Parts: sequence; C-alpha cells; structure tokens
Amino acid sequence: MANETAVAQSAQGAPACSGGFVGELSRKEFLRKLGWACFTTYMVGSVLAMLRFMFPNVLYEPPTSFKAGKPDEYPINSVSTKWTKSKRVWVVRTQKGFYALWARCTHLGCTPNWFESERRFKCPCHGSNFTMQGDVIFGPAPKPLYRAAIAKTDDGQLLIDKGRLENRPGARERGDFFLPHTENA
Ligand code: FES
Repeated sequence: MANETAVAQSAQGAPACSGGFVGELSRKEFLRKLGWACFTTYMVGSVLAMLRFMFPNVLYEPPTSFKAGKPDEYPINSVSTKWTKSKRVWVVRTQKGFYALWARCTHLGCTPNWFESERRFKCPCHGSNFTMQGDVIFGPAPKPLYRAAIAKTDDGQLLIDKGRLENRPGARERGDFFLPHTENA
C-alpha cells in the first residue's frame, strides 16, 4: 500500500522519497560508501607510496662510449662530422693519429660547426672560433674544446668514450686521448 502511494505520488510529480525513512537510509548508505571509497583510496595511495620507496629512481642514460668504425674510413688530415649529430663528436685524423673532439662549446655549451674551407670550428651562439686542435682562436669561450678518450677495439674499430674528457694541452695529446697512427691502423 505504501509503495502504491509512493508510486502514485511520483506519478503526480511529487518526490517519491523526500525525507522520511527511505531518504535517511539513502543518506546513510551514501555516507557509508563514501567512507569506504576514502579508505580504499588511502590504502591504495599508501601501497603505491611504499612500492615507490622500494624501487628507487633509476636513470637510464645512453652509454658514453661507441664504436666509430675502422680507422681507414677517415682520411688523413681531416675532421669527420659523421658522428656530430648522433654522438656530438668530431673524429680528427692527423698525420700522426686520431683524436675525438666533443662538439660542445666551452662557453655555454652550444654545438659549433666545422668549416672546412677555413679549417676551424665556429660556434653559432656567440661567435667563438676554435682551431682543428680545439684551441680558442677568439670569442667568449674560456678554454679549449674537450677531447674524448679514444682507443681501438679487438675487432680494429675506433672506440670513443665521452665519459672521459681532457682539454689541457700536453695531457690531451697522449694517454687515452690520442691514438697514434700505426701501419695497420
Ligand atoms: S656557446 Fe659558444 S660562444 Fe657562446
């Protein structure tokens, strides 16, 4: 009978559950569900925070070294721009051997360009000029370009490692930063 009355009222446009026992029940049910939702959110958040703590941030950086091909791919007395875009390195071959210049200006870090006709590097940002050896000719750059470590792999390729750098005259021409030319190089 009560249901029939509610349906009748509803059909006449009156609210079927306004106030009363049914409305109170819905409100309690709503609050109960809201409570559970908050509790579940809190628990999930806590578990996620705990998992994040257990698995620390790991930065996957690209490897610093790469194989740069066989020495005879590089003509004597040349600056190769083959790796400038992908590895930011110039491979230089002189009469005596090889070195690898890091293509990063020592002023504010722009990438200079090699100008074959002038035999020099020029930085497009503030105009620093560098020799083929990496020394500053003029410009705001405060020091020479850096050289990356260079070696030869067992399979006869050049191996360049940007993880080790040197730009001090004297130190940069020997050790790991200059690979002397050999007959079978
Ligand atoms: S970044 Fe190269 S001259 Fe300023």
